Amino acid sequence: MEEKTLEEIIARYDSPTGKVLGILGDIQRSEGYIPRETLEMLSVKIDVRISQLYSIVTFYSFFSLKPVGEHVITICMGTACHVRGAVGVLDALESLLDIHGDTTEDGKFSVTTKDNKFTVEIARCFGACSMAPVLQIDGTLYGYANPDTLPAILEQYGWRAA
Ligand code: FES
Repeated sequence: MEEKTLEEIIARYDSPTGKVLGILGDIQRSEGYIPRETLEMLSVKIDVRISQLYSIVTFYSFFSLKPVGEHVITICMGTACHVRGAVGVLDALESLLDIHGDTTEDGKFSVTTKDNKFTVEIARCFGACSMAPVLQIDGTLYGYANPDTLPAILEQYGWRAA
């Protein structure tokens, strides 16, 4: 993010030091993630320690320190979803999208396909446990997910079998 753009975001807030979440949210929406250099610039400009900013960014799943793909698929690994087969859904997704799980430097699971079309992430609970296992794509929830229904869901987002 350019310094001027960051300054414009900061200027939206009367008390930037007390509005860190709002500023980080604006950066995330603007860039699709929070670039490390932007976090460092922000730390200097609003006089908040970089370690504090990292703590916030890594605590909230809304923030990402890595660029994400065009579509973000989030699989719930909460207890109900886990018990009802979420791991199998994740395995099937990895196979269909030809990706392999990894944990990012901020401790989150986030994998993006080589063509940058899809990013797969993990969440703890969407509050939709009665439809477990649940996944979300770009904010739309899909309940009762299973490996057999995945291809039809992914096709709605431009995925095609190889
Ligand atoms: S545990 Fe998955 S939606 Fe609650």
